[in-house]
Amino acid sequence: MKFSIKTDALDKQRSDVLVIGVYDSLKVVYDKSLLSASSISHISTILKHGDMSGKTGSSLILYGIPGIKIPRILLIGLGKEKELDGNKYRSAIRTMMQTLKKMDAKTVLSHLQIVAVQEENIAWNIEHFVNEAMDANYEFSELKTVNKKTKKDFEFFVTVDKKNQKVAENALKKSFALARGIEFTKTLGNLPPNICTPTYLGKKAQELGKDHGIKVEVLDQKQIEKLKMGSFLGVAKGSRQPPKFIVLQHNKGKKTQKPIVLVGKGITFDAGGISIKPAGDMDEMKYDMCGAASVLGTFKTIGLLNLPMNIIGIIPTCENLPDGLALKPGDILTSMSGQTIEVLNTDAEGRLILCDALTYAERFNPEVVIDIATLTGACVIALGHHASGLYSNDDKLAKDLESAGQISMDRAWHMPLWEDYQSQLDSNFADMANIGGRAGGSITAACFLSRFAKKYKWAHLDIAGTAWKSGKAKGATGRPVGLLMQYILSKLH
Ligand code: BES
Ligand code: MN
Ligand code: ZN
Repeated sequence: MKFSIKTDALDKQRSDVLVIGVYDSLKVVYDKSLLSASSISHISTILKHGDMSGKTGSSLILYGIPGIKIPRILLIGLGKEKELDGNKYRSAIRTMMQTLKKMDAKTVLSHLQIVAVQEENIAWNIEHFVNEAMDANYEFSELKTVNKKTKKDFEFFVTVDKKNQKVAENALKKSFALARGIEFTKTLGNLPPNICTPTYLGKKAQELGKDHGIKVEVLDQKQIEKLKMGSFLGVAKGSRQPPKFIVLQHNKGKKTQKPIVLVGKGITFDAGGISIKPAGDMDEMKYDMCGAASVLGTFKTIGLLNLPMNIIGIIPTCENLPDGLALKPGDILTSMSGQTIEVLNTDAEGRLILCDALTYAERFNPEVVIDIATLTGACVIALGHHASGLYSNDDKLAKDLESAGQISMDRAWHMPLWEDYQSQLDSNFADMANIGGRAGGSITAACFLSRFAKKYKWAHLDIAGTAWKSGKAKGATGRPVGLLMQYILSKLH
């Protein structure tokens, strides 16, 4: 897909379709400099026939409107003018995409983004236009040989007022880079676990490094042993796929600037290990590397934008399978930090690989460390599929991430990390157990991680409910790349 900003009057513009928003009052949203009053009054007369309600989700195609050279006009319902918020705006863009996909059109001139969305501005409108359009057009069909849906490639011309040109162009550039990062994250998530192995993730990281001048190291089993990552290696033991420890360094900021460190859980398949999971929906545990994929997607966006910042990515990646050599309930592991862990459930493996990555992060003298993980089913029970769980040992960091989630519409909800919960991790035989019982399962998982993140400001995003969709629309969402990029860009100045 292609996007570009246009500021000329409509009569100079050519495209297959023109898209315009309509409220449920049947008021057409237009800009006088772009459309003539007589064309609009013609459209308004047609609308009086009542074929379109103007509610969100409604649409109507008109042909051959006098005064407009573009042969088709696609009207998109926006609902009540006073209630047009970010979510309704985004759903209008989805409706536009669904309708366009059924039409024989390649080039699209859009006026939809000029609508006034509550509390937002033109830059925000354009960013979300690009992101929703790219998201709605995404499909993962590389591995189908029959019944492939034909993916359409549109070219969008996004009109704005001349005075907004610069702002609009910046917004477009940023959101296109973001959308490509999100797309990368989705595809890594959707790939089957026999293809997307730890070795594959390592290769993809190295490719990213070559494309964008990012320093990438992929440590193998021996190097991981040297680092004494006993907890990570404990999980990796049950698999024949060798583990990898991936480190990405985008060092394009001032030497004195402390880096933002992102840590992503990279379990390329989670069968639960010896504490094996039930068979139903187990295929979805290929998505247990979505934290890692979100780090790689974020690096893709950072690379495309060539951001003048220092950002580090750390990805411990392996499989969690049952095997003769696999970790057993009762085993005690010594983590890189020296703390010992009694494994009471081998299915609580995410925290076991992340804790060593958090210790490794210390060497970068980080400004902040943010880990991203499909960590607990309990988080899905607590927050459903709309918000990621957000935990932090620093209130300012938590607030920053919360507001980044709000702006990017990739929201996270701040959860408690109180001392009161810590004793649920007591073990009779080691420094701690790896599970804390059913009560507050997402919280005790975060408490476990916090024990390895004492030396810096740290936040944890539990994306178990937000990283992918199940059922008929099964597929990775690319979250929380939007949130992470919004946070990173807010630290640029
Ligand atoms: N990857 C899972 C968490 C998960 C489960 C994410 C379902 C999304 C949907 C994680 O490794 C896991 O198995 N967690 C256990 C922890 C428990 C054993 C304390 C869980 O949530 O059941
Ligand atoms: Mn598990
Ligand atoms: Zn897992």
